[in-house]
Amino acid sequence: AKAEPLKVIISGAPASGKGTQCELITQKYGLVHISAGDLLRAEVAAASENGKLAKEYMEKGQLVPNEIVVMMVKERLLQLDSQQKGWLLDGYPRSSSQAAGLEDYGIRPDVFILLDVSEDILVERVVGRRLDPLTGKIYHLVYSPPKNDEIASRLTQRFDDTEEKVKLRLCTHHENVDDVLSVYKDITVKVNGNLTKENVFAQIDAALTHVVEQRKMNSRSV
Ligand code: AP5
Repeated sequence: AKAEPLKVIISGAPASGKGTQCELITQKYGLVHISAGDLLRAEVAAASENGKLAKEYMEKGQLVPNEIVVMMVKERLLQLDSQQKGWLLDGYPRSSSQAAGLEDYGIRPDVFILLDVSEDILVERVVGRRLDPLTGKIYHLVYSPPKNDEIASRLTQRFDDTEEKVKLRLCTHHENVDDVLSVYKDITVKVNGNLTKENVFAQIDAALTHVVEQRKMNSRSV
């Protein structure tokens, strides 16, 4: 029988490299990337009622209320493409109640990847991050600079990417991370995220290959 599509959660502190790794993972594994932060920023950009409210919390580095986030992510997870191709959930769940919400719906990943990055590196990554509004690609002024002046001239910075705001986001992360980890401890793979993006991806790729191989063996023995 054909194995079920892969389901992956990626987690880590602000600017630990989740979005960067998601780009590499989706390229190789063809999963649907679902980023809670991107879904929220789309609401903010659309100036919807939810977006206006979400922005108030995002500017303070706090979690946006569950009333806004939970259904938004669940609906995206349950869409046909995610069900058929498998999914890569980024930045969700961030609290025990969000994790419980997924469990209640029987939504459980095959693997939970935790990017582990030291705090001084996180701040440096946030301050230098730039985004291409045209392609959605993530750059860094030092570590991943744009390839030409045309791209460089259109790069933008996120409204919550200041040193002051990342410290607030880090506090929120520290308050919640243990609760989330406890839900997924049996399927957690901790990855050293301090290395270059290629070396970080090599660790993730090895972990995902292992999961895929194991599932193949399990489906053969059924
Ligand atoms: P969200 O958008 O999820 O932000 P975050 O968790 O703070 O993570 P980031 O997107 O900042 O970083 P990243 O880990 O993706 O790093 P990236 O790859 O860009 O959330 C924003 C806000 O939305 C939250 O504060 C909250 O208010 C709200 N929210 C989101 N989810 C929510 C939820 N579930 N519930 C409630 N509220 C929620 O990399 C960063 C930089 O480093 C880039 O410039 C990149 O080029 C560079 N870089 C990456 N990897 C490397 C490397 N290996 N070496 C060198 N440089 C690197």
